[in-house]
Amino acid sequence: MGKWFAAVYDTAMKGLEEKKFISIRERLLEKATGRVLEIGSGTGINFPLYKNAEKVDAIEPDPHMIGRSELRLADAEVPIDIHQQSAEKLAFPDHTFDSVVATLVFCTIPDSTKALKEIIRVSKPEGRIMFFEHVKMPQPPLAKMQEILNPAWRKICGGCNLNRETLVDIQNAGIRIDKVDSYYNGLFVTAECTNTKE
Ligand SMILES: C[S@@+](CC[C@H](N)C(=O)[O-])C[C@H]1O[C@@H](n2cnc3c(N)ncnc32)[C@H](O)[C@@H]1O
Repeated sequence: MGKWFAAVYDTAMKGLEEKKFISIRERLLEKATGRVLEIGSGTGINFPLYKNAEKVDAIEPDPHMIGRSELRLADAEVPIDIHQQSAEKLAFPDHTFDSVVATLVFCTIPDSTKALKEIIRVSKPEGRIMFFEHVKMPQPPLAKMQEILNPAWRKICGGCNLNRETLVDIQNAGIRIDKVDSYYNGLFVTAECTNTKE
């Protein structure tokens, strides 16, 4: 992704966040406790919202996103380290994290199966895994529209896909989904999950 995309994303999200998303993020992130891994931290929009974490390790592959997120470190209430890494290959030992957070990122990760496998590996057994994602909608006509728009959307929006079935992928990975909340007719979902694997 380019420098321009990081700038446009940051500006667009600031507008959306103020109006709609911030309370969804706050409610989810207050449950991130202990040692926390954030996947694809982007411009660091979540950084000021961690209240109960001991420490956050944020991974993000894009250097332009990382550059922007560094500006948000000053607003964080907990220690945060940013690492240039991809979710498909995490440079952390097994069973490191009490909580893992992914927000609006499984739409973009190229190999979500591999990423979920890595999340399970670095999570402690019974660790919490939290998602806030946009997904393929449950209404067939809207889902069809998402399929039609996806190729162009993906090109314009830095590899973001409108048609991912992330809840299905989470379940198929063997992660237990404890609670799902859905927003905007099912376009956005939050999922609070547990790593049940040893
Ligand atoms: C739509 S942005 C979301 C950023 C942030 N999580 C948020 O909530 O606003 C998607 C992010 O996923 C990152 N990303 C793309 N591929 C990734 C991968 N393989 N592993 C981790 N993050 C990835 C992108 O660089 C980008 O920062």
